[in-house]
Amino acid sequence: MPKRNKITVVGAGNVGATAAHWIAAKELADVVLVDIVEGVPQGKSLDLAQAAPIDGFDVHIKGANSYEDTKDSDVVIITAGIPRKPGMSRDDLLKTNSEIVGNVTSEVVKYSPNCFIIVVSNPLDAMTQVAFKRSGFPKNRVMGMAGILDSARMRCFLAEALNVSVENVTAFVLGGHGDTMVPLPRFSTCAGIPITELLPKEQIDAICKRTANGGAEIVGLLKTGSAYYAPSLAAVEMAEAILKDKKKILPCAVYLEGEYGINKLFVGVPVKLGKDGVEQIIEIHLTAEERTALHKSAGAVEELIKILGI
Ligand SMILES: NC(=O)c1ccc[n+]([C@@H]2O[C@H](COP(=O)([O-])OP(=O)(O)OC[C@H]3O[C@@H](n4cnc5c(N)ncnc54)[C@H](O)[C@@H]3O)[C@@H](O)[C@H]2O)c1
Repeated sequence: MPKRNKITVVGAGNVGATAAHWIAAKELADVVLVDIVEGVPQGKSLDLAQAAPIDGFDVHIKGANSYEDTKDSDVVIITAGIPRKPGMSRDDLLKTNSEIVGNVTSEVVKYSPNCFIIVVSNPLDAMTQVAFKRSGFPKNRVMGMAGILDSARMRCFLAEALNVSVENVTAFVLGGHGDTMVPLPRFSTCAGIPITELLPKEQIDAICKRTANGGAEIVGLLKTGSAYYAPSLAAVEMAEAILKDKKKILPCAVYLEGEYGINKLFVGVPVKLGKDGVEQIIEIHLTAEERTALHKSAGAVEELIKILGI
């Protein structure tokens, strides 16, 4: 009997619990949901397990407040963190979340020394760098989720503008996860046709702007939280690509060592995900303008890394 895969999701908040939902519904793996709040991961896991007979998925789902049950996970998705509180600066949040992600990573690697780590906690690129440093893992086993979400947002807006199926639309977004991200219209297509041939420049520019502002738009509507359906599914797509050895090209935050002229930083670029995690970093030729935008975005990540001193 082949062994079922195992995914640990740390943080049983909106993103973590919804990731557990997607994983279970896809029957991708058994799930362990971990949170510091007592009862929440257990309660959400029990609730999700009770959905299984209705939808017909056969996976084990367990909630926990410690890491023993996470032993030998194949993939760990880290969504733990706190949102910014009144009076808290961005730097305060950066430091608090880096402590959380660092401590979570130490526990994770103790029990699952061979896992792949997918970081979702914000600020994404810096938190992925924290997990990478703390884990001591090779760079192919630590990656951050942002580009899939950002390009899914762009795909959603493009499909709406073109009045076509979302399945026909691909989009390409590079850079750090934040307002300096770099949507690339000339690599974005509808049924293989570059969107630059299908939509006027002003409309494309507006879509790129809305994409870069995509997270804030949802925060503005929700008021008490941030997006979680698409972010959680994006993280699960990465786990699925690895566990099924799909060799899928996806934009992910990965550790660059000279690629795109960027060194020792996690920044979003297209990579190939398969059974060895990040199997290849794909370098495409950028125009001078695109390269400048990417370097500006990487510079924003570097600022955070400097503050953290890692
Ligand atoms: N990368 C992206 O594109 C993206 C998209 C959406 C959200 N996010 C980020 O993902 C994170 C989670 O978002 P959310 O909406 O689920 O937030 P949330 O507040 O709903 O959930 C966070 C959970 O983390 C838990 N937690 C805090 N410290 C912990 C610790 N030390 N160990 C275990 N659990 C701990 C909290 O108890 C809470 O349940 C945030 O940092 C958010 O900014 C990133």
